[in-house]
Amino acid sequence: MPQRYIVVLRMRLFNLLFIGDVVGNVGLRELLRQLPELISTYSADAVVVNGENIVNGKGLTEAEANALFAAGVHCITTGNHVWDNWKSRSLLASTPNVLRPFNYPSANPGRGWCLVELPGGRTIGVIQVQGRVFMQPIDDPFKAVDDAILQLKPRTSMIMVDFHADATAEAVAMGWHLDGRVSAVLGTHTHIQTADATILPNGTAYVTDVGMSGPYDSVIGMQKDVALKRMQLQTAHKYEVAEADVRICGAHVIIDEVSGDALQITTFQSPPPRTSIVQGS
Ligand SMILES: [Fe+2]
Ligand SMILES: [Fe+2]
Repeated sequence: MPQRYIVVLRMRLFNLLFIGDVVGNVGLRELLRQLPELISTYSADAVVVNGENIVNGKGLTEAEANALFAAGVHCITTGNHVWDNWKSRSLLASTPNVLRPFNYPSANPGRGWCLVELPGGRTIGVIQVQGRVFMQPIDDPFKAVDDAILQLKPRTSMIMVDFHADATAEAVAMGWHLDGRVSAVLGTHTHIQTADATILPNGTAYVTDVGMSGPYDSVIGMQKDVALKRMQLQTAHKYEVAEADVRICGAHVIIDEVSGDALQITTFQSPPPRTSIVQGS
């Protein structure tokens, strides 16, 4: 009788929670209110938040960063709008787990990647790079992300990349560039959640944009009348953060901690948007 071997595949699951661009104090307040439940719902081992738009849509300071860290956030990413707030620069310079896109010229303050160290010796690397299509002509994000991966790979099996990009094609290209080399490529910046969350063929979770965490009775977080004036009149009008219909957007990624491969990606909006006004539906 042939011997039968039972192969037991061992996987250690890691739950990553990533929250998209937090806009305004209203966005921050709502995120702090929802975060305990989101952490519990998704059994989050690590929480990463994009905070580029917290203070009137422009960057964040030590106070907002500390509030997020106290609520269980492990790393804050930012983006192009972090440079609009002068107070963000000292925060970037002093706080290793508040990131700015790695491919800005290196004389700017801050870092573009970090290693998050968790209880039990678990680690996850976080990298942020920014696209160049319809954005500032900064250094090559594809080369920059390769350099950051070289630094992190010897230290951890799991890496997530926040790709802060305007053009969907550039984000998709970044997904293919990184497939099989990082656990997740999660997009930010457009403030609109895309419906393309997927696991790429070589095990990388991907979504073009996880969406905004802020007021949706707005034009991507800003008051509608001001945004309309800017577009219709083609002159300067001061943006103000909107107030109503605040939702939190993000992605939950389950990763095999041993291989670093993503096993599942789910995007969410909390609360969900209204999609029907049919009675009783
Ligand atoms: Fe943003
Ligand atoms: Fe941005």
